[in-house]
Amino acid sequence: MGVTSIKLEKLTVGYQGIPILEGMSLEFKAPSLVQVLGPNGAGKTTLLKAILGLLKPMDGRIYLNGEDVTGQPEKAGRYIGYVPQLMVNSGHYPVTAWELVLSSLLLRRRKWPRLVPSGSDVELVQKALKLAGLPEDKWYSNFWRLSGGERQRTLIARAIVADPSILLMDEPLSAVDPVGKVELARLIGGLAKKKLVVVTSHDPMLLLDYTDYIVLVNRGQYLMGRPDEVLKLEVASKIYGQAVIPVQQHIHICDAHR
Ligand SMILES: Nc1ncnc2c1ncn2[C@@H]1O[C@H](COP(=O)(O)OP(=O)(O)OP(=O)(O)O)[C@@H](O)[C@H]1O
Ligand SMILES: [Mg+2]
Repeated sequence: MGVTSIKLEKLTVGYQGIPILEGMSLEFKAPSLVQVLGPNGAGKTTLLKAILGLLKPMDGRIYLNGEDVTGQPEKAGRYIGYVPQLMVNSGHYPVTAWELVLSSLLLRRRKWPRLVPSGSDVELVQKALKLAGLPEDKWYSNFWRLSGGERQRTLIARAIVADPSILLMDEPLSAVDPVGKVELARLIGGLAKKKLVVVTSHDPMLLLDYTDYIVLVNRGQYLMGRPDEVLKLEVASKIYGQAVIPVQQHIHICDAHR
């Protein structure tokens, strides 16, 4: 396997024939942390789903590590750990946090005995849950009865347990408390020293110290650059419009999502 990378080639994705993101051509290489920013409905989740192969593009190709994985979740999933945007509705089938993390590890295994955990699997699950900061007394609780932040930590553990080379995280810190945000930002920053980590966010400052590139998206428009270039008032205003307020030398994005 060559260098870990994500390459988008003239990517157009949308729903029912209506494009949300159009003609995106970008390439990222590991190790790096890429933040995808944009207002609600801009297409951030849509972009991650396209990279995961869950959404077939209307046009263009997606390459992971040089391999064409366009619209092929089984292929793309081999390289990716994914943290979905927080799910708030419950009532799903009962599954514990532990089972959710373990199943992600076991399902990646291609050989028999696929679904029988070994001692080292158990250690990997413990390590992932500890790193993601889920308290031990919650490990065997029903996932759907956990708090928003606890669920988010479980989903982060699930994404990292199999040590994938690419991590796609959709607003991974949104429901986490302030102290947890700083801890998890450090964890994500550390992971990005070796992996290719793509994080969507409504608060670019949390991960700013660790960020190599920012991609701003809003429907048909996108731009990418180093954080200091992209977070300039005139650049960010192109995408966010009136929602950008200069605060001394820094800009503040008033994104009223959460
Ligand atoms: N399955 C779908 N069918 C039709 N339209 C959809 C579907 N999923 C998303 N959309 C639309 O696509 C647009 C982009 O949605 P997306 O979820 O990618 O936005 P986002 O940038 O992640 O927003 P947020 O910050 O709220 O998470 C939205 O207008 C949304 O309504
Ligand atoms: Mg989203």
